[in-house]
Amino acid sequence: MASIRSERLELVSISPDFIDALLAERRRDAEVAAGLSLPEDWPDAHDRGFLNFRLRQMRERPETQEWFVYAVVLPNGERPMVGHAGFHGPPGVNVVKAPDAVEVGYSIFESYRRRGYATEVVRALIDWASSEHGIRHFVASISPENEPSLALVRRLGFERTGRHWDEEDGEEVEFELRISDGA
Ligand SMILES: CC(C)(COP(=O)(O)OP(=O)(O)OC[C@H]1O[C@@H](n2cnc3c(N)ncnc32)[C@H](O)[C@@H]1OP(=O)(O)O)[C@@H](O)C(=O)NCCC(=O)NCCS
Repeated sequence: MASIRSERLELVSISPDFIDALLAERRRDAEVAAGLSLPEDWPDAHDRGFLNFRLRQMRERPETQEWFVYAVVLPNGERPMVGHAGFHGPPGVNVVKAPDAVEVGYSIFESYRRRGYATEVVRALIDWASSEHGIRHFVASISPENEPSLALVRRLGFERTGRHWDEEDGEEVEFELRISDGA
């Protein structure tokens, strides 16, 4: 599957085989399959659960892979993985249940933060969904305490539209972005 490029980063679509190898501690196989080097401390228990869930979703509907997880990679040298990002699923899978919208999710590993990577990644995901699939409506849900993430979506022009209670993550604020056809 083609990767998504941005100015400084490459977003490599994560396959079921990559997740399989990673969770089975066949880390070298995973690295070779995705063309990247993994950080030693990833995935933690939380991300293992998250990847397991995505693995089951992709096994059920393989055609949806492009709407799930991307490894964020620095495209030079050892090609270190510096985070992961993507969508919650194909159009229609989002917290506000808008049939035309996709919801973005993102995480940059601690030692790579505050370099504008997350902003660049979310912008690249929006550009990709817009140019490849004509998506014009984007959603993000963020804890009210998550200052960096709140700053990020505001910078990209998202507007606060609601809030909800998430079983796992607690209170979350909902943000939406609508882009015009020419954007
Ligand atoms: C949120 C997250 C993805 C941001 O990643 P990042 O690559 O550091 O973000 P960026 O560098 O693109 O920019 C974030 C902006 O948020 C603000 N910001 C970043 N860290 C901040 C902090 N600790 N406190 C307050 N504001 C902060 C700044 O405005 C920053 O821009 P600046 O560096 O120019 O000042 C990262 O902190 C992360 O992975 N957190 C854990 C996972 C998470 O919360 N994901 C989002 C779930 S909704």
